[in-house]
Amino acid sequence: MVQTFTFDVTLGAKPGQFVMVWVPGIDEVPMSIASDNGKQLKITFFAVGDMTRILAAMKKGDLVGLRGPFGTHYRWKPKQHLALVAGGYGAAPMYFAALEAIKDGCTLEVFVGARSSEHLLYLKEFKSLPKTTLHVATDNGSKGFQGFNVQNFDAVLKDKKHSKTKPFVHQIFACGPERMLVSVSALSAKWKIPSQLSLERYMKCGYGLCGNCVVDPLGIRLCIDGPVVSNDVCKKITEFGVYHRDAIGKKHTF
Ligand SMILES: Cc1cc2nc3c(=O)[nH]c(=O)nc-3n(C[C@H](O)[C@H](O)[C@H](O)COP(=O)(O)OP(=O)(O)OC[C@H]3O[C@@H](n4cnc5c(N)ncnc54)[C@H](O)[C@@H]3O)c2cc1C
Ligand code: FES
Repeated sequence: MVQTFTFDVTLGAKPGQFVMVWVPGIDEVPMSIASDNGKQLKITFFAVGDMTRILAAMKKGDLVGLRGPFGTHYRWKPKQHLALVAGGYGAAPMYFAALEAIKDGCTLEVFVGARSSEHLLYLKEFKSLPKTTLHVATDNGSKGFQGFNVQNFDAVLKDKKHSKTKPFVHQIFACGPERMLVSVSALSAKWKIPSQLSLERYMKCGYGLCGNCVVDPLGIRLCIDGPVVSNDVCKKITEFGVYHRDAIGKKHTF
């Protein structure tokens, strides 16, 4: 189940940053900021475990804590043509990036992908944006291109004859499951398009103290040096797409 919560608060957050969301007596977990318009802040989340299930059942007026904003954010130059690649709840921060980049005169190619049509998120929101071309992909072909959204993106780049001298897009932003990010990283290298990817690791403090979100072999903390990192940094992270660590530092392969 996916939910979007709106809080009557602003943290002055930028697209790509996250908040630590606290349910008193239960847990505190990181979540991407789905928008912060100076008045209200949104998060979009899946109810997958204890904390997110309890959060999903909460009602208006219940007590939820927010700490942040934390981490790095996506960066662009005015009037760039950007490709935004989103999988799962990654559509939420990508929508936030889209809203802000459009204010700077950027134009967008948005690639949203999911297993099947009912899992596609933020389509209505992306469709309503100016200066935006939306590309949809589903693994089972129930909507849009049949296959992964990165395959779809690759086909579009071929079709548009992207080249270094005549770039179709200037930068790629991506947020979604790590296997999707691995494909984006490869596509970014293949087409020589700079990219910024949002990586997730187990987070506790959110601001560089506990060391739980450190990645091998660089030793950078993804809560402050990430979650958004350039593909150049990503390529140096040997655990990228291979394994991640849990709350006690134990490795789990993807
Ligand atoms: C930077 C960042 C941004 C995220 N943004 C979103 C978002 O926008 N929407 C969303 O639905 N989810 C997001 N997540 C994932 C979210 O934090 C987990 O889904 C949530 O922690 C699950 O908690 P749980 O207690 O419900 O489930 P659990 O059963 O405790 O955990 C389910 C899985 O979630 C992950 N997880 C649990 N606790 C943490 C933690 N403290 N830090 C990182 N991962 C954890 C683990 O992989 C675990 O296997 C983000 C994670 C990170 C690191
Ligand atoms: S979450 Fe504690 S150092 Fe990153």
